[in-house]
Amino acid sequence: MEGYEPIMSFGEDVAEIYGDLQRGDESATVVFLEQLAGRGPALELAIGTGRIALPLAARGIRVDGVDISPAMVARLRAKPGGDQISVTIGDFADVPVPGTYRLIFVVWNTLFNLLTQEDQVRCFENVAAHLTDDGSFVVEAFVPGFLYRLRSDQYVDAEAIRVDEVRLDVLRHDMATQMIEESHVSLSSAGVRLNPVVQRYAWPSELDLMARIAGLRLKDRWGGWNREPFNSTSSTHVSVYGR
Ligand SMILES: C[S@@+](CC[C@H](N)C(=O)[O-])C[C@H]1O[C@@H](n2cnc3c(N)ncnc32)[C@H](O)[C@@H]1O
Repeated sequence: MEGYEPIMSFGEDVAEIYGDLQRGDESATVVFLEQLAGRGPALELAIGTGRIALPLAARGIRVDGVDISPAMVARLRAKPGGDQISVTIGDFADVPVPGTYRLIFVVWNTLFNLLTQEDQVRCFENVAAHLTDDGSFVVEAFVPGFLYRLRSDQYVDAEAIRVDEVRLDVLRHDMATQMIEESHVSLSSAGVRLNPVVQRYAWPSELDLMARIAGLRLKDRWGGWNREPFNSTSSTHVSVYGR
């Protein structure tokens, strides 16, 4: 997508939408992460508005964060407990924090917001440098299979149809580059609003090789936060890497 910069996807408008957004599996996510974090500390890459970091910190674990978007972090800060979390504004591929962590995690497909294989590998390498010897790196991401079943490698989905607004999700997939170009389009009397997002996806097996390049190994892979088995019907995976 010519002219696209990742920060464009996470401005004020989107931060407002994400502000109180819940997916429904937050409790299971927190229980899963808490078990791996032990006494902590934990680091969330792309912490956003604190959907996971805040309830995890409420369990008594120190949680730090990294995020590129001041707008998203401002929403986190405004929530109860948000001022207790140390957040570094920066690119999570750099893991731009001092010290080591018992748990580092990146959820909700966000690893794929790093748009090159090079950046994704760099992320794994920097994570490895910040993990304690017994530490875990947890990645939650979608399994790309559905992209290969699209007609003409694209779709337009009606997300909402109301009397005063229509919202469409428009996506195109490039199998050769493993890139997805997507925009959430709002059409209303206020005009047209676009929310572009680009992702570079990877199959779980490619992530495992990235981990090995970084000196880490796959310890566990689940089909969800409740430790559902990972198999050919899984649309998502929760992968745990360690030394
Ligand atoms: C889908 S939101 C997820 C937020 C949070 N992890 C959650 O699960 O609710 C993605 C977040 O990734 C951040 N982000 C995207 N690319 C980034 C990058 N290269 N470095 C740091 N943060 C990034 C965005 O600003 C946004 O807050």
